[in-house]
Amino acid sequence: MPQPQIGDRITICNYTFTWTKAHLSKDELEPFRQKYDQLGAAALERIQTIRQETNTKSTDLYEILYDNHANDPILSQFWTEVHSVPSWVNWAQIARGQQFFYRYALANIVGFALQGFMAENSAAPGVVEVLVRTGGFSTRMLLGRLLETFQWLIQVTHCIKAIQPGGQGHTATVRVRLLHASVRNRLLQLCQRRPEYFDTETYGIPVNTLDSIHSISTFCCNPMWLQLPKFGSIPVTPGEVDDYIAVFRYLAFVLGTPTSYFETSEKAKCVMESMLVHEVRTTETSRVVAYNFVECVTNLPGVFRVSSGFVAAGSRWINGDGLCDELRLERPGLVYYLAFRGFCVLVTCLARVQRVIPAFDAVVVDLFRTQLYNGIVQRKSRTKFDFKYVPKIGSKTGKEAYGTSSTAGVSGLVGMGLAEMVFIGVLAGGGLMVGGSLTQDRQLPEESKGEGEGISYKL
Ligand code: HEM
Repeated sequence: MPQPQIGDRITICNYTFTWTKAHLSKDELEPFRQKYDQLGAAALERIQTIRQETNTKSTDLYEILYDNHANDPILSQFWTEVHSVPSWVNWAQIARGQQFFYRYALANIVGFALQGFMAENSAAPGVVEVLVRTGGFSTRMLLGRLLETFQWLIQVTHCIKAIQPGGQGHTATVRVRLLHASVRNRLLQLCQRRPEYFDTETYGIPVNTLDSIHSISTFCCNPMWLQLPKFGSIPVTPGEVDDYIAVFRYLAFVLGTPTSYFETSEKAKCVMESMLVHEVRTTETSRVVAYNFVECVTNLPGVFRVSSGFVAAGSRWINGDGLCDELRLERPGLVYYLAFRGFCVLVTCLARVQRVIPAFDAVVVDLFRTQLYNGIVQRKSRTKFDFKYVPKIGSKTGKEAYGTSSTAGVSGLVGMGLAEMVFIGVLAGGGLMVGGSLTQDRQLPEESKGEGEGISYKL
C-alpha cells in the first residue's frame, strides 16, 4: 500500500478518515518490528536460570520472580519497574475508565469478537503468524484462549485495587508479560535451529514492539472508533474515551510497551488509523484464524451459540464486505442482518437508557462486573497465564472443522441460536423507534461529509 499523503481520504474496513501529519509513516513504525521488551526477556532468562540452578519444580514464573526479586539485580530491576507508578497515572481516571468496559459490556464483547479479533487480529500478519504457532488458535482451544484473554480484561478492570501494583489484575499483567517473553524466547530458539520456521525479517521479532503497540491500540481504541459507532448511536462521551485509553496506557507500561503513543486520545486514534493503513493485511493464515473462529463460536453451548450467518452478517456490517470477502466469510441472507440489527437496537437502547438514568447505569455496571467476574475469573478452569501452547517445529494451526455440523442441536429459524431469535424480536418490537438514528451507521463519519472522493484503499 502506498504511503498516504497529508489530506488523503482513506477508507479501510468500513472506516473513513483523513491522513494528517500526526499519523505515523511506515518508516517510523518499521524499526519497532525488530525491537522488543528487553527487560522482560532478561527477567525471563534469569528466572529460567534460577529454576535450573535451584532445581525448582514449579513452572510458575511469577512465583520464582516473587521469591527471588530481592536478591537478583535483573529481577529486582524488573520488579521495581512494574511496581513503580508513572507520574502521569491518575487513579481516579483509571477507576472511571474501568467502568467503560462494563457500561457497554455487550457491545464491547461482540465488538471485540467481530472486529478486534475477526478483522484486526486475523489480518495483522505478524500477530497471526505467532498465534498459529501456539496451538491455542486451533478450533477446540480457541474458546479457552478467548476466555483467558477475557479473564485478564476482567481482572484488570475489576476495581481500582485490582490494577494497582500487587492487585490481581496487576499480577496477571506481569504474568502476561513473562508469558509473552516465553513465547518470543521459544520461537527464537526454534528459529536458531531452523531459520525458515519463522520469518523474522518479514514479521519481525515475535511479540515485537510494533505488534504490541498495535495490540494495545486494538484493545482501547477500536471500541471507540471501529466498534461501538457501528452498533448505532451509543452515546460514548469524550471523557469516557480519555479514561479508557488511560487504563491501557498504564497497562502498556506494565507490559513493557511504549506508552507515549497513548498519551492523549488524539494520539491514540492516530496510532489506530496508522495501524489500519500499514498493518491490516489478509493472508492465508488470516483465513485460517477467521475460519477457526467461526467454527468455535458457532459451536458454543446453549444460549451463547450463534449461527455462522449471524457472525458473517455482524462482521460484514462492522468491517465491510472487502475485508470479509478476503477472509472468505459467507454472504448471509437478510434474516441474519435483521438479527444483527436487532442486537444493535438492543445495545443502543440500553446505553441510552443508562445515560438518562444514572441509577440504572450503576446497576448495569455492577451487574456485568459481578456476573463476568463470577463466570470467568472464578471459573474452575481459570488460567494463571502459564505457557501452555508451546510452539514446536512442524506444528502450526490449520483450518479445523469443529467435528459436528455448526447447526447441530439447534431447532431455530435457519439454524439460528436462541439469542439471535431474541434479537429479531427486539428489532420487530423496538426497531422502528430507533431506526432513524441507526441509519447513520453506514454513512461516512461526520468529518468526511462534504469532502471529495478520497482514496479508498483495498480493504
Ligand atoms: C501488548 C498488548 C497485548 C496484550 C494486552 C496481550 C494480552 C494477552 C493475554 C491477556 C494473554 C493471556 C491469555 C491468552 O492466552 O490469550 C496473552 C497471551 C498471548 N499473547 Fe498476548 N497480548 C498483547 C500483545 C501480544 C502480541 C503483540 C502478540 C504476538 C504477536 C501476542 C501473543 C500472545 C500469545 C502467543 C499468547 C499465548 C501464549 C500461551 O498461552 O501459550 N500478544 N496475551
